[in-house]
Amino acid sequence: MRVVSIVGARPQFVKLAPVAKAFAAAGIDHKIIHTGQHYDVNMSDSFFIELGIPAPDLHLGVGGGSHGVMTGRMLEQLDPVLEEMDPDWVLVYGDTNSTIAGTLSAVKMHLPVAHLEAGLRSFNRRMPEEHNRVLTDHAADLCLAPTEVAMKHLADEGLASRSILVGDVMTDVCMQVRDSVLAKPRPVPGVAEGEKYILATIHRADNTDEQDRLEHILDALGSLDRKVVLPVHPRLRVRAKTDGITIARGNLETIDPLAYPDMVNAVIHADGVITDSGGLQKEAFLLRTVCTTVRTETEWTETVDNGWNILDPDAEHLAATAVRPAPVGDPGHPYGDGHAAAKVAEVLLAAKTPDRD
Ligand code: UD1
Repeated sequence: MRVVSIVGARPQFVKLAPVAKAFAAAGIDHKIIHTGQHYDVNMSDSFFIELGIPAPDLHLGVGGGSHGVMTGRMLEQLDPVLEEMDPDWVLVYGDTNSTIAGTLSAVKMHLPVAHLEAGLRSFNRRMPEEHNRVLTDHAADLCLAPTEVAMKHLADEGLASRSILVGDVMTDVCMQVRDSVLAKPRPVPGVAEGEKYILATIHRADNTDEQDRLEHILDALGSLDRKVVLPVHPRLRVRAKTDGITIARGNLETIDPLAYPDMVNAVIHADGVITDSGGLQKEAFLLRTVCTTVRTETEWTETVDNGWNILDPDAEHLAATAVRPAPVGDPGHPYGDGHAAAKVAEVLLAAKTPDRD
């Protein structure tokens, strides 16, 4: 059986890593298409190298541009490529422009599509990712859900018959990398040995693209009572440059984007995490570091239910929440047992590919 994975943005490389391993173990003929949405070495290549992902079979080189232009250019290039690769399944990941482009190209060519990380919802229609994930779930033939909550959302939208709970593949990779990082200690960039710090990331359009809001968030981070290290995502870098904003201020210090093992290491040793990233909220939960999320809602509601994550949409309470006692009690395993990728391979091998003719 041949599966073509379509990826393009940083969080998708993380999800691809355990999937590529599981597919190799299951004897699946696996091809990887990289759209090029993320193209900086530390946003893309470093993930393939550090996580041992096979090099993409094809790189479309489509990075930058407005969402429509980016998605359209991907679509244009994907059609002939998918025709030639002729997969049994096209596998798309998460909620980026690369996800929706891969999905649209495949369904229009009558190729079966499976969506990994299906059923996540923020119910915030301002987010480009929300449209990408809803449209992808409804176009896909198979919705591979990470959590029970995601399964419920799919059922609520009439998609139960095509949905399967596989668990969260990001948990697979997070747990594996945690073990290797703990076995071989490494420094945290920008932090002296033994120094206390908070790890922060801010990249969502809603937080970066309006100058006053961005300044307010950066001020809040800079005024915390200890060092705050912030790996600068390209979106933030671009916006700060355009608006003439200096990111570092007060206790806030910037560093370059981190390779995945360095990020896991930085989360493990931080006193707290402040973020607007979906993946990082969950990683903080899995690595047992308290998290504050600068958003009005989260798709990963289990992190909030357990008290490990607190939403602070306007960054008004960071002084009280950023570093706080860890919640007591066992939060359980809402994201699966770390073997979701093997389940994905099993499900795809067992699934009858839908007849579209
Ligand atoms: C994208 C995803 C978002 C995901 C995020 C993770 C969509 C709609 N959004 O947002 O869901 O959480 O990736 O990182 O797909 N840039 C570079 N170098 C790079 C990558 C981007 O300079 O390697 C620049 C782009 O040219 C652009 C900006 O950074 O100016 C934003 O990149 P873009 O891919 O548009 O979206 P993200 O904000 O990264």
